[in-house]
Amino acid sequence: MTYLVIGTGPAGLAAIRSFKDAGLPVEAAERNADVGGQWLYGAQSSAVYASTHLISSKFTTAFADFPMPDDWPAYPSRKQIEQYFKDFAKHFDLYPLIRFNDGVAKLERNGERWRATFDQGETRDYDGVVIANGHLSDPLMPKVSGNFSGTLMHAKDYKSPEIFDGKRVLICGMGNTGCDIVVDAIHRAKSVLWSVRGGNHFVPKFVAGKPADLSNHQAKFVLPKWLRSRLHEPFARLLAGPPERFGLPRPAHRLYDRTPIVNSLVLLHLGQGDVALRKPVKSFDGDSVIFEDGKRDEADVVVFATGYRITFPFLDDLAPLNWQPRFGAPRLYMNVFPPTDNGLFVAGLLEGAGVGWPGRALQTDLIAAYIKAKKEKPEAARAFRGEIERHATAGEKTDRGEHGIFVDFLQYKRDLQKAIARLG
Ligand SMILES: Cc1cc2nc3c(=O)[nH]c(=O)nc-3n(C[C@H](O)[C@H](O)[C@H](O)COP(=O)(O)OP(=O)(O)OC[C@H]3O[C@@H](n4cnc5c(N)ncnc54)[C@H](O)[C@@H]3O)c2cc1C
Ligand SMILES: NC(=O)c1ccc[n+]([C@@H]2O[C@H](COP(=O)([O-])OP(=O)(O)OC[C@H]3O[C@@H](n4cnc5c(N)ncnc54)[C@H](OP(=O)(O)O)[C@@H]3O)[C@@H](O)[C@H]2O)c1
Repeated sequence: MTYLVIGTGPAGLAAIRSFKDAGLPVEAAERNADVGGQWLYGAQSSAVYASTHLISSKFTTAFADFPMPDDWPAYPSRKQIEQYFKDFAKHFDLYPLIRFNDGVAKLERNGERWRATFDQGETRDYDGVVIANGHLSDPLMPKVSGNFSGTLMHAKDYKSPEIFDGKRVLICGMGNTGCDIVVDAIHRAKSVLWSVRGGNHFVPKFVAGKPADLSNHQAKFVLPKWLRSRLHEPFARLLAGPPERFGLPRPAHRLYDRTPIVNSLVLLHLGQGDVALRKPVKSFDGDSVIFEDGKRDEADVVVFATGYRITFPFLDDLAPLNWQPRFGAPRLYMNVFPPTDNGLFVAGLLEGAGVGWPGRALQTDLIAAYIKAKKEKPEAARAFRGEIERHATAGEKTDRGEHGIFVDFLQYKRDLQKAIARLG
């Protein structure tokens, strides 16, 4: 009986460790040359750029029993995080369980087992597979008519700001990536335009010199998400400033319904007039960009920081993951378990600032607990299966974001803990 973990970003590392701790035989495949996933700067899977710092503080983001060093800042740099994962894998002796530079090219059913075909040609059969391939590696580019004669790229390919030197730059998208790249560009470019569609809430990194995300995690009771939103939204608007005052759209959702923007610098630059806002791009015409309101500007570089697509390229058939074309995502119990007991599990497929790597570790502890319970506590496992099946037939939830994978981090982590306890 052997299990396979696909990917060794935070979720994959958590999975290898959970299985090892549970005494379940496990091996992992990683297409990159080392661990870290997104945080392995320059790797083909990584969307991290040189200036990246965490937006969630080290206290809430690090694995619970492997804190980041005391002398690191509250929001470490991507270089430190890359080192953190290498140290984590070394500390828990995970390296010997991972094959590097060899991804899973194909995953298919072979009787009751799963057959993996690796990039280098080998095939192996497994009793179960934890899919931890990440969901921020496959760029989502909007369809824009016309041709652009300058440099056109997605943020996935953006690494460092020299490309903006002396150029007229347009950044599209107001996720955390778009905001970071706008700030990068301002110090180098001749001019910066920022094309924005929907609104979002802004929260500061620090309140009274302390990481702003600490208080939520220290709360003894989980207030309902809507109530937390009502209570905290006025503080966010007071501390960071209402986005509308800077010309940005007013968010149509509540604070805890999506990952907020954790970037005060971009608002400062908007307020200083270092960047000008534009509507979404309608079309290109040579070196000109035409926006939805008819405005036209010339640009040398256009960066689409417009998000990512969820993909499982190694699966020809996505039905075993309960794929939902409407969301472009699978529908899974607790974002992990497909409705059929087919040996596939997904780890790390979630959006929700505050889940951090402890949340990923809870997901993989739950997978290991379920597999063990099937043998050692069949009644508990059967009851859990019932929960999975009931979820599959229940109606769609509407408050889980564009892909249906958004979770309310406080409630979600508690739900995972309770499920682990139910499985013993
Ligand atoms: C710029 C940026 C900043 C971020 N900041 C934060 C933050 O502050 N806090 C936070 O919590 N999160 C942040 N994130 C989110 C980040 O994605 C998570 O922190 C985390 O990296 C997700 O872990 P993961 O293991 O699910 O996926 P990933 O880190 O993407 O790892 C997936 C791994 O799977 C491997 N893989 C994929 N396909 C295959 C295959 N077929 N075979 C073998 N291997 C494969 C990839 O090579 C990769 O190593 C940030 C993301 C970005 C892009
Ligand atoms: N420093 C950090 O720690 C850091 C940095 C970057 C990213 N991250 C994390 O990484 C994940 C991905 O972030 P992301 O910013 O890359 O993607 P994202 O959160 O999906 O944001 C994409 C943005 O692009 C906008 N958009 C889409 N199509 C557009 C169009 N045609 N014109 C204008 N805007 C358009 C979206 O607007 P709508 O709202 O209208 O859809 C949204 O604002 C998130 O979890 C994020 O928090 C963290």
